[in-house]
Amino acid sequence: MGVFASTEDPGSTGHEQVVFCQDKQSGLKAIIGIYSTALGPALGGTRFYPYASEEEALADVLDLSRGMAYKNALAGLDLGGGKAVIWGDPEQVKSEALLRAYGRFVESLAGRYYTACDVGTYVADMDVIARETKYVTGRSVEHGGAGDSSILTAWGVFQGMRAAAEHVWGGPTLAGRRVGVAGLGKVGKYLTAHLLEDGAEVVATDVNPKALEWVRATHPQVGLVDDTAALVASDIDVYAPCALGGALNDDTVPALRAKVVAGAANNQLAHPGIEKVLADRGILYAPDYVVNAGGVIQVADEIEGFNFERAKLRATRIYDTTREILRLADDEGVPPAVAADRLAERRMAEVGRLRTIRLR
Ligand SMILES: NC(=O)c1ccc[n+]([C@@H]2O[C@H](COP(=O)([O-])OP(=O)(O)OC[C@H]3O[C@@H](n4cnc5c(N)ncnc54)[C@H](O)[C@@H]3O)[C@@H](O)[C@H]2O)c1
Repeated sequence: MGVFASTEDPGSTGHEQVVFCQDKQSGLKAIIGIYSTALGPALGGTRFYPYASEEEALADVLDLSRGMAYKNALAGLDLGGGKAVIWGDPEQVKSEALLRAYGRFVESLAGRYYTACDVGTYVADMDVIARETKYVTGRSVEHGGAGDSSILTAWGVFQGMRAAAEHVWGGPTLAGRRVGVAGLGKVGKYLTAHLLEDGAEVVATDVNPKALEWVRATHPQVGLVDDTAALVASDIDVYAPCALGGALNDDTVPALRAKVVAGAANNQLAHPGIEKVLADRGILYAPDYVVNAGGVIQVADEIEGFNFERAKLRATRIYDTTREILRLADDEGVPPAVAADRLAERRMAEVGRLRTIRLR
């Protein structure tokens, strides 16, 4: 296994294993981060990105793999948390040889890590990687894969939002509420359809004119505003960030008029402490990694041989998990983001510990 200079001691971050992979001929430089296998093999996607430095790539993989451990734990999966990064510009260096070299490194971990798609990698890439390793999900339907994960991501966000609505207004429905959807991409579109079906009023925004055309044509009743700033400041009951990370920041949180935040975007909290500002303003934040777990539930199901109905049932349970987190937050007097972390850590410790019971 190739090694290029490691700059950080993985032991100091709590990770089980960090593997540096290099194949000079194909140009592959990858880092696979395994945060925890307490609940099972680590699962998390491969990000293919032109990082400015090796330090930046390493910091990202350490951060992302830890996040996956928490997400998978609360999704109720028998899977630990891992993630990988390939350092390079996918437009310039992605090739069959590079992806297959990467697949061989994944295979060499003998099932401690399962990969999937992330930023810069697609279903077609997973099919190529699968020619070298069985430890890959997110493949195309023709190759036994689950296909588009945004369908169950949106379904799960909707379930989490229902639980938050129940906590705040007493009933598990968005009927009669105004929901602001920021980002009408793959997830935002499906979420909008669920909300309308439930009887909610939807106001939305997107920077892509094609997304706006789509909503005008398919759901003309959806109100449109110019940008996220206008959406946040408008008279909405629920804010659903479905575009990029960092949606909850020092500009948006003070301006927010919604009582609930529940959306698909990853890493919505721009910095530590912002969850406290939300709580102090009386805004209930349904933690992003809890409500957007439908996608990982979908790809994880592929490991057993994909069954949409079974995966949908698991994604529906995001409603119960969100309820439990909100109750725990109230009981322990902490923001929901802190309660979610505690619940995930509890499951990793309690269920992970069972492996110390010897079977033979
Ligand atoms: N697709 C999944 O299964 C999945 C799973 C978990 C989390 N997520 C997260 O959910 C979010 C949405 O994912 P997606 O698959 O729908 O992505 P996507 O790229 O299909 O959609 C994102 C949409 O946001 C819009 N957008 C970008 N910047 C914007 C801005 N400043 N204001 C308004 N709109 C803006 C884009 O034009 C696009 O239409 C991402 O943060 C993603 O990481 C997705």
